[in-house]
Amino acid sequence: MTQERLITEYAHDMLGVFGQPALVLVRGSGSRVTDAEGRTYLDLLGGIAVNALGHAHPAWVRAVSEQAAQLAHVSNFFTTPQQVGLAQRLLGYLGAQDGRVFFCNSGTEANEAAYKLARRYGNVRGKGTILALEHGFHGRTLGALALTHKPAYREPFEPLPAGIKHIPATIEALEENLSDHVAALIVEPIQGEAGVLPLPEGYLQRARELTRSAGALLMVDEVQTGMGRTGRWFAHSRELTGQELPDVITLAKGLGGGFPIGAVLTVGPDAGQTLEAGMHGTTFGGNPLATAAATATLQAIENEGLLEAASQRGTRFRAAIEQVPGVATSRGDGLLIGIVLTDSATEQGNPLAPAFVIAARSAGFIINAPDARTVRIAPALTITDQELAEFTAEFPIILAQARKL
Ligand SMILES: Cc1ncc(COP(=O)(O)O)c(C=O)c1O
Repeated sequence: MTQERLITEYAHDMLGVFGQPALVLVRGSGSRVTDAEGRTYLDLLGGIAVNALGHAHPAWVRAVSEQAAQLAHVSNFFTTPQQVGLAQRLLGYLGAQDGRVFFCNSGTEANEAAYKLARRYGNVRGKGTILALEHGFHGRTLGALALTHKPAYREPFEPLPAGIKHIPATIEALEENLSDHVAALIVEPIQGEAGVLPLPEGYLQRARELTRSAGALLMVDEVQTGMGRTGRWFAHSRELTGQELPDVITLAKGLGGGFPIGAVLTVGPDAGQTLEAGMHGTTFGGNPLATAAATATLQAIENEGLLEAASQRGTRFRAAIEQVPGVATSRGDGLLIGIVLTDSATEQGNPLAPAFVIAARSAGFIINAPDARTVRIAPALTITDQELAEFTAEFPIILAQARKL
């Protein structure tokens, strides 16, 4: 079936929530993907910060194949060596004394569980408010959506669960709002969906101090920033280490290297003992296939030195791209990068960054645009300097094309 025909059939058969897909992709290897017509693209988006090892990494393929042949799913009436092993590995990376893990299947589910934990924590202590940030994104299920800020995502589904207050991502707003009525604060270290916006310097430190003195949980959504994306296992560790860990951390995306898996990590007895037996659950969460895929992903990140590589490649790429005419600046950390264009509109008055995405695709690059002026890349941590340099070299030509759209 041709690519065009498949896209027409997609429009007929699929719920239209994702709009029209740009391409029909049929295979991938490393940072290259191939469409149904045999055209190859450099994948700079990595399935939106998911494919940490790129496509078809041999260690990941081996782990998934071997685990599928051995034991794929058992339900949470049972545990498996893969599940316990992954939990211990994650707590080891975090350096948490008395840490606990809950596995699920996606980012929104991880935040849903964190939200329930915060609500329960507050209910027991008579604290009714949960603070979340303006421009924050935490997922699409109703609880996570209530934590999410964007009105266009929220309004069609109101009323949403109550008790959440969105505050500006400033230290002043934090100081103003973190009262004893607050059960929890949830933040992303870098707001990826909002345009790769890092928290202000010192924000997490101050949030840790204030949540601690108010008896509130500090919850960090590392769904997009976690598992090496920023050159560290956790983006929050840029500011918080040792005794200063968050109380709750949510993970998904890169954790499984392409296999669906999410996780909630808790630190200390308050967060770790809030949800009692029977208060939360999931059928698939932490099954041996998903946890084997995640373990293989994390082991390969270690074996191949990809934390260091993500950090260095990101720094070198940003230094180069910021020299390109038409680029105002760049934001982010490691290999989560927002490239900010000097202009926000094409010659026809259309938003420039989305036009850039289309022009980039025609030139053989997959990226996306979180807003009118910003293009985002979140490639595999295995991407090479040479592959990134291909994009830098082509950037002015793509931009010139985009301006005409
Ligand atoms: C910070 C953050 N939290 C949560 C989510 C939701 O994750 P999922 O799409 O796996 O439900 C996303 C997805 O983009 C995200 O970036």
